[in-house]
Amino acid sequence: MAEYFNISLYDIVHDNATWEDEQVVAALQYTVVNESHLVMCSVAKLGNDMDTYEYPEFTSFVEPEVQKCDGSTVMTGGSLEVIDLVHRIVLDPSGGFVMLWTPREDDIVIEVQVATAGYVGVGFSPKGGMKGADIVLGWVDDANKVFLHDRYSDGYTVPKVDESQDVELLGGYQNDTHTVLRFSRPWVTCDHNDFRLSDDTVRIIWSYANQDPSNEMTMKIHDKRGTKSVFLKERPVILPSITDDIKFWDIAPSNVKRSNVFVKKLDLEHDMCLRS
Ligand code: HEM
Repeated sequence: MAEYFNISLYDIVHDNATWEDEQVVAALQYTVVNESHLVMCSVAKLGNDMDTYEYPEFTSFVEPEVQKCDGSTVMTGGSLEVIDLVHRIVLDPSGGFVMLWTPREDDIVIEVQVATAGYVGVGFSPKGGMKGADIVLGWVDDANKVFLHDRYSDGYTVPKVDESQDVELLGGYQNDTHTVLRFSRPWVTCDHNDFRLSDDTVRIIWSYANQDPSNEMTMKIHDKRGTKSVFLKERPVILPSITDDIKFWDIAPSNVKRSNVFVKKLDLEHDMCLRS
């Protein structure tokens, strides 16, 4: 299950890979058909009014309000306006490369937060390798200028700058620990060097180096890099806000003595509340 580390339950359930495992699907179907998944609820005296319960209305898709910056690929850095990016994935197992994104009708807004003062790359790759990948590469220099290029790679060399620049830099900055870049990119561009982002899972490649490039085409090889499959068009579910009718239960197994339980303090990122 290490592959699911740092991924929300929602993302796991919506991951195609989960449903490709016949045993997992069979087990889920069995519990639903036999209603054994409801046992927990009846034991806890929840769900008595399930037939009549109406789920409150919620928004299934939110569009962030973003301030566009006239499509230039160089701008002066500064702190970024806080927007509601609806998905988040940690790409580097050490936690150094976090990608956030929001799918919109015609394009996608992506933000990368990377533990480096050097360059940062994120790309879409047909097979998960560097060769043939459509890459967005950027950095913030010491004068606080933000650079971002739409590129492609034809081998293990510095990715070439596309003639057609189809990414729009929305902002970026660098602080003592991180470089943050935010941009948008249409799902489909007219550039043959760009990857067509479809409704399917996309192989994202990522990399970063601890040094900025000395110019557009002179940079050293990445210090860290990797690949991860991500479903970019995932629609987010925004849960209803917590109101007075939310109840909380502590669930504890009856046959386990408290002294036997080892509780480790975790930095949990997700929680779940149940309505009755
Ligand atoms: C100066 C620019 C770059 C150079 C010279 C370079 C060079 C290389 C080399 C020699 C390898 C094979 C050795 C290894 O596995 O580390 C490699 C692999 C890789 N690179 Fe790069 N790279 C550059 C930029 C990038 C960028 C910007 C990305 C991502 C956005 C990237 C993603 C990858 C990935 C995912 C791999 C492993 C998969 C594969 O072997 O194709 N690289 N790179």
